[in-house]
Amino acid sequence: MTYNEKDQQYKRFTVTSALPYANGPVHIGHLAGVYVPADVYVRYLRAQGEEVMFIGGSDEHGVPITIKARKEGVTPQDIVDRYHKIIKDSFAELGISFDIYSRTSSPEHHETAAAYFKKLYDEGKFVEKVSMQYYDEEAQQFLADRYITGTCPHCGNEHAYGDQCEACGTSLNATDLINPKSTLSGNPPVMRETKHWYLPLDQDEPWLREWILEQHKGDWKTNVYGQCKSWIDAGLQPRAVTRDLDWGVKVPIEGADGKVLYVWFDAPIGYISFTKQLKGNDWEKWWKDKDTKLVHFIGKDNIVFHCIIFPAMLKADGSYILPANVPANEFLNLEGDKISTSRNWAVWLHEYLVDFPGKQDVLRYTLCSNAPETKDNDFTWKDFQLKNNSELVAILGNFVNRTLVLTHKFYGGKVPARGPLPELEQEVLKEMATFPERIGRSIESYRFREALAEMMNLARLGNKYLTDREPWKLIKTDPELTATVMNLSLQICANLAILCAPFLPFTADKMRRIMNLPAMGWKDAGRADLLMEGHLIDKPELLFEQIDDAAIDAQVNKLLETKRQNELNAWAPNAVKETVALDDFGKMDIRVGTVLECSKVPKADKLLQFKIEDGMGTRTIVSGIAKFYPEPEKLVGMQVCFIANFAPRKLKGVESQGMILSAEDKDGRLVLVTPSQLVTPGCNVG
Ligand code: 2FM
Ligand code: ZN
Repeated sequence: MTYNEKDQQYKRFTVTSALPYANGPVHIGHLAGVYVPADVYVRYLRAQGEEVMFIGGSDEHGVPITIKARKEGVTPQDIVDRYHKIIKDSFAELGISFDIYSRTSSPEHHETAAAYFKKLYDEGKFVEKVSMQYYDEEAQQFLADRYITGTCPHCGNEHAYGDQCEACGTSLNATDLINPKSTLSGNPPVMRETKHWYLPLDQDEPWLREWILEQHKGDWKTNVYGQCKSWIDAGLQPRAVTRDLDWGVKVPIEGADGKVLYVWFDAPIGYISFTKQLKGNDWEKWWKDKDTKLVHFIGKDNIVFHCIIFPAMLKADGSYILPANVPANEFLNLEGDKISTSRNWAVWLHEYLVDFPGKQDVLRYTLCSNAPETKDNDFTWKDFQLKNNSELVAILGNFVNRTLVLTHKFYGGKVPARGPLPELEQEVLKEMATFPERIGRSIESYRFREALAEMMNLARLGNKYLTDREPWKLIKTDPELTATVMNLSLQICANLAILCAPFLPFTADKMRRIMNLPAMGWKDAGRADLLMEGHLIDKPELLFEQIDDAAIDAQVNKLLETKRQNELNAWAPNAVKETVALDDFGKMDIRVGTVLECSKVPKADKLLQFKIEDGMGTRTIVSGIAKFYPEPEKLVGMQVCFIANFAPRKLKGVESQGMILSAEDKDGRLVLVTPSQLVTPGCNVG
């Protein structure tokens, strides 16, 4: 039985998690924002004995997938096949316990999404509108969503997309963009007439206002409520639910050739079509019975779609329930920078699983304890190491290990009988009994960080109890009390095996295996008789191991390398200067000279002083390249190019009679320009 009275009224829970786009693997931002909290929630509900269905799957339509396919010269199906497998396998390995993980390119999904559209179409729920939209004459294609880029009218970002500006987060129409350009040909687009179907969201405003802003006030998270309020207050506009594209669910009506459903129309229907795949004829109660609680786990960029547009679609059909809650999270950053698939600034789950084998729970723990529940948060590798070494190893692992080792040492692995309970023992048991409800209430309120911290507090309680009683000393003076202490400590371990399971399922399994515990539910937690006298415990194994600096440094270096690559990729040569005539160039007297002496200019960090043999004699030239040539004496004998008729000027008290030429590399490094073979000093360059 759950602790929240409202939840007790429900017979079952339909829990969905945002369908990740199958155009890249899953990263820690996805996990912390959506999948780890959703998995904690469903594992907890199952432990409570609730009937739960946890839906996941890949979102396999949308323009980014077709753009990627075109870039790689493969089909969109190739792209989604590749990433669907990577995503599905890595979720499974992390223990994300979906009841089904399906995909929107499946025929069952196409059928369900098309039928959903058709029903609304037949019932006149859409508004049909002919409008002018951008078209690429060279590619002979309409330019939906990400096929068009331009300058965001709100923040000036020059790379905003036709549907959204990623810099300021504003949702856009392609026609809002300044200087629009086709991403297919790079050409400015032309306008062409096209017909589409719109969901008249403007008509939904009254009930949405009542349902979200009144009924869910104080109930939905403030970040979710706030976003919905600003959308509704700004006035809802009709939304096109079709696109002129060839990748997606075909619009199932006559005269709609070359048109597909908008990806944001078909994707949430995926939750329904996957339910059908999983439950067959029994699917409807999961979506249509008012005794079902529907909860969507998403990131903040999905709020409008799950709180306004999808509910409007469900309401338009009329037979569906609406979400009871949408506990959206904010974003997780990585080492102080926004996570980005295109800039490869991420910790990818499939790579983590290779680099840290068997450490799924460490990642689950770190991400849950740092989940961006109320504001954006930062993941750092140092913090990851600290959470492992100072919390999992030092608190939870240490308590369980000490208890199991002492049980073997004193009693050969048999649970000792306990005697009468002194006051301290009574207090410890009383406190232990409060944890299931404390943790449960936090989970039911979608406060997963708080829930996890509470679970660790039970391990802290255990550690403190051992430290207070010191059974390793007590055994010599009071064996009877020692047996009681060890019995109670073992009961705490058994409780931890139940209470850590939603967060750390692999660790919970290991603990159950070592302690030879049967499968237990949340209702068993809090009890002090989970392990009976004489029960045999296997040999202890460490639950967690230290993560050393070398493993962390390797990850940090990987990110530094990414940063370096990104900087290189971002570099572009300067624009070519205004054209000059031969005469103008001829005014420059560029020559080759041989370096006779070279030294640092005193009290000037940046300057080197050259003595050059220039064919007519010698001259002194000062050049600002000291930083790049820390051993100037090594330049003696080298030939350099210099401007011989550059007006002399004084630099730090030294008269410079010319200018030495150097090339500025993309990283700002200056490199001397030198002839490819030795030439006579003083000869001209031209
Ligand atoms: O933002 C995204 O990654 C989307 N693919 C989420 C879709 S959620 C649902 F509606 F399918
Ligand atoms: Zn913007």
